[in-house]
Amino acid sequence: MKQIQIIDAKNHVGETVKIGAWVANKRSSGKIAFLQLRDGTAYFQGVVVKNEVSEEVFQLAKSLTQETSVIVTGEIREDSRSKFGYELGISNVEVIGESQDYPITPKEHGTDFLMDHRHLWLRSSRQHAIMQIRNELIRATYEFFNKHHFVKIDPPILTGSAPEGTTDLFETNYFDQKAYLSQSGQLYMEAAAMAFGKVFSFGPTFRAEKSKTRRHLIEFWMIEPEMAFMHQEESLEVQEQYVAFLVQNVLDNCDYPLHVLGRDRAVLEKYTNLPFPRISYDDAIDLLIKNGFDDIQWGDDFGSPHETFIANSFDRPVFILNYPKAIKPFYMKPHPTREDVVICADLIAPEGYGEIIGGSERATDYEFLLEQIKNHGLSEEEYSWYLDLRRYGSVPHAGFGLGLERTVTWIAGIDHVREAIPFPRLLNRIYP
Ligand code: 4AD
Ligand code: MG
Repeated sequence: MKQIQIIDAKNHVGETVKIGAWVANKRSSGKIAFLQLRDGTAYFQGVVVKNEVSEEVFQLAKSLTQETSVIVTGEIREDSRSKFGYELGISNVEVIGESQDYPITPKEHGTDFLMDHRHLWLRSSRQHAIMQIRNELIRATYEFFNKHHFVKIDPPILTGSAPEGTTDLFETNYFDQKAYLSQSGQLYMEAAAMAFGKVFSFGPTFRAEKSKTRRHLIEFWMIEPEMAFMHQEESLEVQEQYVAFLVQNVLDNCDYPLHVLGRDRAVLEKYTNLPFPRISYDDAIDLLIKNGFDDIQWGDDFGSPHETFIANSFDRPVFILNYPKAIKPFYMKPHPTREDVVICADLIAPEGYGEIIGGSERATDYEFLLEQIKNHGLSEEEYSWYLDLRRYGSVPHAGFGLGLERTVTWIAGIDHVREAIPFPRLLNRIYP
């Protein structure tokens, strides 16, 4: 007899199959037991009817405890009453691993309790749905960039450089040298773009940020494309096409996870309309001041209430362009006619989810960059290789970084970035 995964149910209707699964929940009466099962690919119902199985099997099914692992044998049937569409008419149950007093019961639990049991909480249908959306975003990312002839390049994780400022670095010993966990692979991706034209990375990045918000992780995953012979305007087009592609693929391929999370498809559909609006930093500041924000002035970075207000002024993600030079990293290209701003953009997600992309055109002028490196207190020696990129065939280039967990949080419509990564590292949490 064939062992299948329930996700393949449609190819086995009417067949008797075996499935390895866990008991998520159970309901039973004198004559029938309903097992809520999950096999990792989906949640489904198994039905055990007393007078269709041996007394032993029926009693065993009725006695199964939450999260017991089993191999069930049964017939795949269509079930038009459930969104999933299939159920298993069970003829036999074999217990593989018992489970006593599973700590996460179907009742409500507090977030701290659930986070302490993250290794088990991942089994819940909600977490399963979120991780499927995360997986789809990763899959669609590779599809998008491969389709557009980007080469996937892996920047190092241990590094001597600090592209996003020196305040939130994780320092470690590298034999007799100092090293940091990567904040961003960007500088290496710039080198890679000079070798391969269009490149992208996808990897973990680390920020020792003392921020305890719904949007901040200490360890998060970033997708960082970098493109040679490209200016900022063209980079913005790549960004909006990429983000719309991500949303469209979740709509196309994650109907069930969206249903489990109660995410309204119609809301997401609006986010596939291009182009995304663009507003300058200057105009964004004016908009805030005109609307009564007296806690911000030109030169300040936006806080989350500011980003939310700006986002709510539009019906889809919005680019904020050309921030003050003083609040952005050293590598951004100066504006051609203004000394006080740089050629960059942040993409702000709708519904209060905040910044999901930071990007810019990169400075190409050797002397300017050297000056910037010194002004930012960075070591000229450490960045000598980076300056080489401007010495040997420098070209206009631009790139960006999309934060995967923030994007998952937004598209899934959940409250907090901690649920968008399997094992979140937060200011006060490294367990489990
Ligand atoms: O804006 P950031 O800092 O940009 C960079 O790192 C550039 N070097 C990227 C590039 O141009 N190649 O970070 C990019 C994105 C943010 O927009 C946000 O989505 C995410 O990374 N991000 C975080 N996500 C979760 N927790 C944090 N602490 C994050 N910090 C940044
Ligand atoms: Mg940023």
